[in-house]
Parts: sequence; structure tokens; C-alpha cells
Amino acid sequence: MPYTVQGVVARGKGQDVSLEAVTVPDPGPGEAVVNVQACGVCHTDLHYREGGINDEFPFLLGHEAAGVVEAVGAGVTGLEPGDYVILNWRAVCGQCRACLRGRPWYCFATHNATRKMTLADGTALSPALGIGAFAEKTLVAAGQCTKVDPAAAPAVAGLLGCGVMAGLGAAINTGGVTRGDSVAVIGCGGVGSAAVLGASLAGAARIIAVDVDDRKLEWAKGFGATHTVNSRESDAVEAIRELTGGFGADVVIEAVGRPETYKQAFYARDLAGTVVLVGVPTPEMTLELPLLDVFGRGGALKSSWYGDCLPGRDFPMLIDLYLQGRLNLDGFVTETIGLGDVEAAFAKMHRGEVLRSVVVL
Ligand SMILES: NC(=O)c1ccc[n+]([C@@H]2O[C@H](COP(=O)([O-])OP(=O)(O)OC[C@H]3O[C@@H](n4cnc5c(N)ncnc54)[C@H](O)[C@@H]3O)[C@@H](O)[C@H]2O)c1
Ligand SMILES: [Zn+2]
Ligand SMILES: [Zn+2]
Repeated sequence: MPYTVQGVVARGKGQDVSLEAVTVPDPGPGEAVVNVQACGVCHTDLHYREGGINDEFPFLLGHEAAGVVEAVGAGVTGLEPGDYVILNWRAVCGQCRACLRGRPWYCFATHNATRKMTLADGTALSPALGIGAFAEKTLVAAGQCTKVDPAAAPAVAGLLGCGVMAGLGAAINTGGVTRGDSVAVIGCGGVGSAAVLGASLAGAARIIAVDVDDRKLEWAKGFGATHTVNSRESDAVEAIRELTGGFGADVVIEAVGRPETYKQAFYARDLAGTVVLVGVPTPEMTLELPLLDVFGRGGALKSSWYGDCLPGRDFPMLIDLYLQGRLNLDGFVTETIGLGDVEAAFAKMHRGEVLRSVVVL
């Protein structure tokens, strides 16, 4: 029997989101229906609402979630009703050329549920990042469910489903931050603060947090930033160089997704250093750089999709570190809200008042 639940829908570009009745079908082969217990509000949800990702409205928003499996479809193994899971938006296929070459975090054929969730009138919904978890229940591919220790509360565990994993992984997996490195993070929202935390976990000696908002910089200190720079008040590149003996940081992580901050990252790294772009640009943005600088400064310019994580490897490990008191995930939850409060949470995010508002069901 299909389920009828409440969900947060973006009907059109720039339009306020609304709470709607959503029909969730029974899971098809290889699929699962999950009772969502918590879902964080990520900037990517706002990007969807603004039409910055694609035009496939209406969207069922929410993609940073934890919950309990309600039902599984035919052929699903290793997952059953009652399992406590974090939802991931890159269920790897195991068969594409990236997977076959042993680099499954790049999987080029990640998959989602193929059955459709719909509005009451039958209109098919596009679930954000193939998840759609601002809803009491959602339908996903079984591979999007990663089991973790239920001792971690859903509001905290769900954060690993997107922004916090993206930031931690941008530092640890993509940036390869290691003991003694100098690291700068430009943009310290949920994702950037997690990059600060990841750099700290990996043993970076100097961690420079850069933002235009002093509240974010204060929070970043709590995640391990050793220095902060307000780039409205001083030049980010000069400040980072000054704090790194005049050279620039070994790894600079861009967590805003804009050309001007990418350029700062490019010039704020040491020769042969690494730039990691984890912020997501919008389609109209372009970048111009002297090609000679790209060559002459050497090193690596990388993008980080989902922190190059492997959910099955990384989520349970990070939850264990959290439960041991070694990973401050609680610090990301600024407030818990209801399903009806997502539009207000977007406004708070826009004003810079929160790291994460988390919908708790
Ligand atoms: N690559 C991925 O897999 C992935 C995953 C999740 C989110 N994202 C992206 O990461 C980005 C950040 O997401 P978030 O949820 O942390 O958003 P957020 O709104 O919480 O944080 C953005 C931060 O950037 C700061 N900022 C804005 N303009 C700046 C500037 N010019 N210089 C310095 N700082 C500036 C803001 O003050 C804010 O603190 C978004 O683009 C989001 O879409 C990427
Ligand atoms: Zn693959
Ligand atoms: Zn996200």
C-alpha cells in the first residue's frame, strides 16, 4: 500500500516552499522506504529552490537525513525493516569504469529509486539529490541506506548524509590533509566548518578559517581553527600568506562556490599546494585565470563530490568517533525545527545565523 505523508515541496523557481501531501509508493526491486527521523537544511536545498541545479520542478527537498527502514523491495539484501540508517546520495554501482578501476568514490553511475514519489494529483516529484527527506517517509535505492550505530541521535547522524561529510571528506579524502599541514578554509558554513574539523582530525598544524561573517569564524574556532580571517575586513590571500610564513597554505578548501573565492583559494595556496573546490557554483558562473599561473604554481586543483566519501566505509567510522567523543558533530546543530519551518530556515541560512537547522520528525 502506498503511503501518504507530509513533505516540503519547491513548486517553482524562487517560490516559497510549501508543505504538501506526498504519495510514497511501496519500494520496488532494490528499493527501500525509510521513516525519516531528522533532516538537515543544506545550502544545496536552497540552490534547488532557486533553480540553480536544474529545472525539474517540483522538487521534494531535503537530503541530509537519518531514519529507520520501514520496508524493503524484492532482492534487497543486507538491509531490513528496523535498521537505523543514514541516507547517502551516491549509491555506487560497482560496475562503471570508475568502480572497476577501484575508485568507487568517483562512481559515474550512482543510482536512486526508479519508482516515483508524487503529489496528490499524480505529478511526479524530483527528490533533491535522489533523496527527498523533508518528508515523513521517503523512497530511495537500498544502496542509499548506510547502517550506523543507533546510539547516535538522528539530528546528528543525518548531518553526515551531506554537508558535514562533504566538508570532512574535502579535507581528509580529497585534500589529503595530513599531520603538520597548513590548511585554509574559505567559507565556514556547515560544509566549511566541517572541513575545519576534518583538517583538525587529520592533524593539520595550522588551520585558517576565512568567512565574511564573524559568527561563523567564532564557530570555526570551536571546530579547531587556529586562526580566523574576516575577508570583508582584510584581503584573504594576503592574510593567509602572512599566517603561513609568506608562502600560502598547503591545502586551501573553497566552500562557498563562487569564482572570486575560488581565485582566493588558487592564490592563497603554497607552490605545489592543493585547491579543493567543495562549494557548488551555479551554471552562469565562469572563471578566468592566467594559464601561466595554473602551470607555474603547480600542484593540484581538485573538486570534491560528496567529500570523495564511501558511505559504507566512512559513515559508521565517523559515527563511532562521535560516540567516543572524538568528533564534535553536536556543534553543527544550531537549532531543531519542524517540517513547516524550512522556508524560515532558508532565511536564517541566508542571513548567516545558523550552521545547520535540522528538521526533526
Ligand atoms: N561538493 C559537495 O558534495 C557539496 C555538498 C554539500 C554542499 N555543498 C556546497 O557547499 C557550499 C556551502 O554549503 P553550506 O551548506 O556550508 O552553506 P552555508 O550557507 O551554510 O555556508 C556558506 C558560507 O560561506 C560564507 N561566504 C559567503 N560569501 C563568502 C565570501 N565571499 N567569502 C568568504 N565566505 C563567504 C557565508 O558567510 C557562509 O558562512 C554550497 O555551495 C553547497 O551547495 C557541496
Ligand atoms: Zn560505479
Ligand atoms: Zn547538501
